[in-house]
Amino acid sequence: MISTRLLGNAVRAEENVLLTLVGPHAPMGKLMRRYWIPALRSDELEAGGAPVRLRLLCENFLAFRSPEGEVGVVDHRCAHRCASLFYGRNEEGGIRCVYHGWKFARNGQCIEMPSEPPETDYKARVRIRALHVAEKFGVVWVHMADGAPPPLPHFDWNELEAGKALSVSFMMRECNWLQALEGDIDTCHVGFLHLGAVGPDAFEEGSLNYYRQMPENLAPKYEALETEYGATYCAYRHAGPGNTYHRIGHFAMPFWTMVPSEPMDHIHARAWVPIDDHHSMLVVIGGPRSTFTRDKHGELLPGAGVAIRYLPNTSDWLGRWRIEENPRNDHLISRETQRGRSYTGIEGIPVQDQAITESMGPIVDRTKEHLGTSDRMIMLTRRKLMRAAAALRDEGSVPPGADAAESYHHLRAGFAILPDDTDWLDYYNSRRSVWSKGAAAPIERMKRHAAPAPGNAT
Ligand code: FES
Ligand SMILES: [Fe+2]
Repeated sequence: MISTRLLGNAVRAEENVLLTLVGPHAPMGKLMRRYWIPALRSDELEAGGAPVRLRLLCENFLAFRSPEGEVGVVDHRCAHRCASLFYGRNEEGGIRCVYHGWKFARNGQCIEMPSEPPETDYKARVRIRALHVAEKFGVVWVHMADGAPPPLPHFDWNELEAGKALSVSFMMRECNWLQALEGDIDTCHVGFLHLGAVGPDAFEEGSLNYYRQMPENLAPKYEALETEYGATYCAYRHAGPGNTYHRIGHFAMPFWTMVPSEPMDHIHARAWVPIDDHHSMLVVIGGPRSTFTRDKHGELLPGAGVAIRYLPNTSDWLGRWRIEENPRNDHLISRETQRGRSYTGIEGIPVQDQAITESMGPIVDRTKEHLGTSDRMIMLTRRKLMRAAAALRDEGSVPPGADAAESYHHLRAGFAILPDDTDWLDYYNSRRSVWSKGAAAPIERMKRHAAPAPGNAT
């Protein structure tokens, strides 16, 4: 019998603290501050327009686009007597506090101090904190550490075929970043939470439809591998005579995932950016989706293709990219629908994910868990994060990928149906070789993570 608390994988209370808290003094918070963070959509900031309150990793900033079109992200407090610059005037050359008129450039330097005698040089010695800023892929990125920042992470977004536009979406979730992220690397839940009301009969008999295989086999086998950038998994299950259905996805340091929601080669990445310890922002940057979530009649599967119902953004610290469904309205669950065509009674796949991870509370108490074999990737991801945070705290080691933009290159997720005797990692490495034109090193299988060969899957 397999133990439900797999050897060495129970999380202790102090480990849960290490894993989840992201304030400026927390080890995981210090780790996150070593990476570029996708912070806002570019179109949230209008040239010369209202500044935006931006909470990141438990700190409060102000983002604004100057009349000249340049973006600044600064401490929201004026250096004089800490009035909020949210009320400030977005002027050419900087933002001006309306209390006594001090003006700060985008780099944080005080450039005007009209309330002080003009003969003093006080202003030259006053500045507010300003973050490094970059703008790319329709996103405003920030880096919170001092000193010269590394290049942006080199995901494959640049390599989308001509004419295939990137889309960028943000969505706030009312829970800690890690439990939200763990939903992305837990592919087993798809057959329940999202497709639990769909039986194999919804698809042509004998068809190798990607979605037919999930209701047919709800308990896939897993292999998870630690990698330089984070961790990679394959969940695999039988797919008719001679074939195995593989779902391959990734965790990349410190908060990125790639999920197998499309056939292999799909270019996208998802960031779970901590707003604070109890709120996170999902940022999805990716190429266009295809239409595989349909049944044999061409109908969309329940919950697929449902438009997200955003509430209007407000200027509150927690007012950006909220959705209508939340814990206070039970995510608009319909018990009637739950008895019928939907396993959950909750509309929309992203909303189902939102409801279930928010239902765990602001920070899930991982000491109460009983992890199973399907949680292998989650265990590996936690270990990778804990080791990196402890190594930075104890030895000052640069966390994986923080200074190595190329670690994120040629990394893609997806699913594939392959002959039983194909090793998924060989297949994945062969695709990786195509994406990189032979340049990328293959991902290695380390002995300690080895699992039964995919061909033995049932
Ligand atoms: S508080 Fe901002 S200028 Fe005085
Ligand atoms: Fe999900």
